[in-house]
Amino acid sequence: MTGEAPKAAHRLAVLGQPVSHSRSPAMHNAALAALGLDGEWRYEAIEVGPDRFEERVRAMAGEGFAGANVTVPHKGAALAVADSLSEVAREIGAANTLTFEAEEIAADNTDGHGFLTALPRAPGGGRALVLGAGGAARAVVWALGREGAEVEVWNRTGLRSRNVCAELGGTAVEEPATADYELIVNTTAVGMRGEDPFDELPLDAEAFGEHQVVVDLVYGGVPSPLLQAAAGRGAATVDGIEVLVRQGARSLQGWIGAEPPLDVMREAARGAC
Ligand code: ATR
Repeated sequence: MTGEAPKAAHRLAVLGQPVSHSRSPAMHNAALAALGLDGEWRYEAIEVGPDRFEERVRAMAGEGFAGANVTVPHKGAALAVADSLSEVAREIGAANTLTFEAEEIAADNTDGHGFLTALPRAPGGGRALVLGAGGAARAVVWALGREGAEVEVWNRTGLRSRNVCAELGGTAVEEPATADYELIVNTTAVGMRGEDPFDELPLDAEAFGEHQVVVDLVYGGVPSPLLQAAAGRGAATVDGIEVLVRQGARSLQGWIGAEPPLDVMREAARGAC
């Protein structure tokens, strides 16, 4: 990126640790360029640990930031630092989007909507299995419950899935049968370090079928082994990049007030490694 520093309140960022591999700067800056806004707006990555997070966020309005995305491990802290919360952020119990307004920090969560809009068909009325019980799972369980899906949650540590269901709805399950679900969503970290999903997760690679949508929030340069197996049996698949693009687009729209070009964001996110 070249050019002068953006004017006041036209800076954007993603805050995380680690954040150097984030695809958000490439994705957002490509969208800003396509909209002709790259002279004014700029999106950067800011590495910050938990001990400095609040201090960093409080300084941002004074440094010309209009907003920020927040990623691992700060989504809970982002909620706590905010002066006002959207209903969605309050319900999910985490925030991925901060907006700096005058003296106030507003928090929102676009992960749930990002997930829903990435799906090829509406999940309402169907049976859905969510694997995992961390922050990503919370947004997915919230979104599916809101759409009227019958949600079941499996987690390696059963106490966490039971807690998620007690707070957000759904039923904790211990031995799900892969073929029983119209939608299966992997929100766990399994696959990020090359683990075999069929060793670590309660899924049967042979039981996927054409009636299913399978989502893997893990993303890399190639389709994950989970999505490859699902696609091989005729299931529709959605990867983590598509969900990243959708949540990012919703955040960006809130900050700039214009509809971001999804194709441009998708291409940039897929190209950035
Ligand atoms: P996030 O906020 O991104 O969801 P997280 O809170 O660290 O991250 O949650 C990671 C999820 O991946 C958890 O559901 C975790 O299971 P535990 O609650 O039992 O730790 C899950 N996970 C990580 N490694 C796993 C593995 N090898 N097998 C199964 N689940 C795993």
